Amino acid sequence: MKKTTICGLLISLFFSSFLCQSHAYNKQKQALDNLYRSKRSIDSAIDTSHFKAPQNEMKEVVLPQEGLREKDKIQKLPGQPLVKFDQYGGYVTVNESGGRAFYYYFVEADNSKGSLPLLLWLNGGPGCSSLAYGAMQELGPFRVNSDGKTLYRNKFSWNNAANVLFVESPAGVGFSYSNISSYYNNCGDESTSEDNYVFFLNWLERFPEYKERDFYIAGESYAGHYVPQLAHTILHHNKMANKTLINLKGILIGNPVINDETDTVGMYDYFHTHALISDETRDQIRKQCDFSPNVTKQTDECNKVTDHVDRDLDDHIDIYNIYAPLCLNQNLTSMPKRMSDVIDPCSEYYTHAYMNREDVQEAIHANVTKLDHDWEACSDIIQHWLDSPSTIIPLLREFMANNLRVWIFSGDTDGRVPVTSTEYSINLMNLPVKTQWRPWLHQGEMGGFAQVYEGNLTFVTVLGAGHQVPSYKPKNSLALVTHFLTGESLDGPRS
Ligand SMILES: *[C@@H]1O[C@H](CO)[C@@H](O)[C@H](O)[C@H]1NC(C)=O
Ligand SMILES: *[C@@H]1O[C@H](CO)[C@@H](O)[C@H](O)[C@H]1NC(C)=O
Ligand SMILES: *[C@@H]1O[C@H](CO)[C@@H](O)[C@H](O)[C@H]1NC(C)=O
Ligand SMILES: *[C@@H]1O[C@H](CO)[C@@H](O)[C@H](O)[C@H]1NC(C)=O
Ligand SMILES: *[C@@H]1O[C@H](CO)[C@@H](O)[C@H](O)[C@H]1NC(C)=O
Ligand SMILES: *[C@@H]1O[C@H](CO)[C@@H](O)[C@H](O)[C@H]1NC(C)=O
Ligand SMILES: *[C@@H]1O[C@H](CO)[C@@H](O)[C@H](O)[C@H]1NC(C)=O
Repeated sequence: MKKTTICGLLISLFFSSFLCQSHAYNKQKQALDNLYRSKRSIDSAIDTSHFKAPQNEMKEVVLPQEGLREKDKIQKLPGQPLVKFDQYGGYVTVNESGGRAFYYYFVEADNSKGSLPLLLWLNGGPGCSSLAYGAMQELGPFRVNSDGKTLYRNKFSWNNAANVLFVESPAGVGFSYSNISSYYNNCGDESTSEDNYVFFLNWLERFPEYKERDFYIAGESYAGHYVPQLAHTILHHNKMANKTLINLKGILIGNPVINDETDTVGMYDYFHTHALISDETRDQIRKQCDFSPNVTKQTDECNKVTDHVDRDLDDHIDIYNIYAPLCLNQNLTSMPKRMSDVIDPCSEYYTHAYMNREDVQEAIHANVTKLDHDWEACSDIIQHWLDSPSTIIPLLREFMANNLRVWIFSGDTDGRVPVTSTEYSINLMNLPVKTQWRPWLHQGEMGGFAQVYEGNLTFVTVLGAGHQVPSYKPKNSLALVTHFLTGESLDGPRS
């Protein structure tokens, strides 16, 4: 296990100091912090204008896939308890001339795989792995034991409700790679969404029985960019082809990065209303900072106060789940510890150990080209990010106009992309309310609150969940995704 501190994305280019001092489980935080800071820095070269779908027709991008599905079948993950669903893992070439391939892990539904929908899950970062978080710590069928080599079952896996596809994206994340390393200096939202689109077209060719299946895209955090951008790309190409190339039905995004200004303002307001900063600090931030997208350089006064907040909150709280325990001992144990349904705070270390095992990589058909770096939950090799729109709200409007189902959920103990941020972002859309804010229940307990807007945008909070909602509220998050997929509103209290 890597003991040295690891700095996330873009750090070498833009920042230094305290951001580097945290532990590996903070990699997601670093990735997002770094992106935000670089977007706001004076010499930022990041393009923040609106997202554009790839314009080329992309006919030539689908490669022959015969025989690959059978080769990708995973007999068994090392240390895995017996299950009756099928699993697949392998590489899909997403750009032949660029030598880029994405690693995917696919778990078919536990039951009724022939009739349940297909759900693609994306994590954010940018640079964080859907295998590391989504599959192994959030909604996948297994989680890694504290011995770093055996697995236990997640009873509330989302493959109770769908066939679930995880992909490590973009190239440079996890096992996904580019043979031309200069690509790692040229990543960005647009090339990520193009590669995601090509990945999925080819994956469908490999698994043709899913071509007509109802398809949903879900994700969290910076996937608040990836999910809508991929959905937009799909709609765009369906329209250009004048037929349904991909049967996209809806999107589900959790604690999503969707609008930089409200995301940032909402974060400081959350800190204030959760007793993490004082009244004075809140007032100073309001007075000194302007987070609107046209402002590229904050005043020294603003930086002084926000740096102070960062210092206070950096090391001793998990800002992704403000009431959660921290990982105090990163060591693996010789015997597996007893695990509960809620994620162990050190699980990122267990997962890191597991994914870097040779027997595991062999079993899941990963790292076949013997990459020159290890597997990390969030990429250390992606060095630069070219484009990241300041808002993706126009894409959400487009989906509603095209009758896609749009659900946004929010774990309400996340301090990083908190519930206040998401509320402010949704409020910007000025949508009439269809069903008023009300509690939703699961098995008699409160799951959180839900509000439905005209045009069928549903906003759902998950009470007591951090940023990685399924890690902290596995049972309720399964109820949430099941309702999303069936289109049934969450159960309210009997009136
Ligand atoms: C492959 O990626 C390169 C950049 O790495 C890009 O210029 C090219 O257009 C891509 N090819 C296709 C077919 O999309
Ligand atoms: C990358 O290079 C390796 C080694 O030459 C090769 O086996 C692999 O097919 C290449 N990957 C892609 C996507 O071109
Ligand atoms: C699109 O397809 C429909 C039939 O599916 C056809 O009626 C229509 O003319 C087509 N539009 C264009 C622009 O090709
Ligand atoms: C940025 O735009 C906002 C309106 O969106 C405006 O109030 C503010 O003055 C602008 N700031 C700068 C520095 O141009
Ligand atoms: C973790 O393991 C290292 C090396 O084996 C040991 O020095 C250290 O004390 C252990 N840490 C804890 C908290 O047990
Ligand atoms: C791939 O395999 C090589 C050789 O075993 C190893 O050094 C490297 O850490 C692995 N990389 C990943 C991403 O798993
Ligand atoms: C919204 O949902 C209702 C009920 O599920 C459905 O009847 C209606 O067509 C949907 N409207 C839009 C715009 O999707």
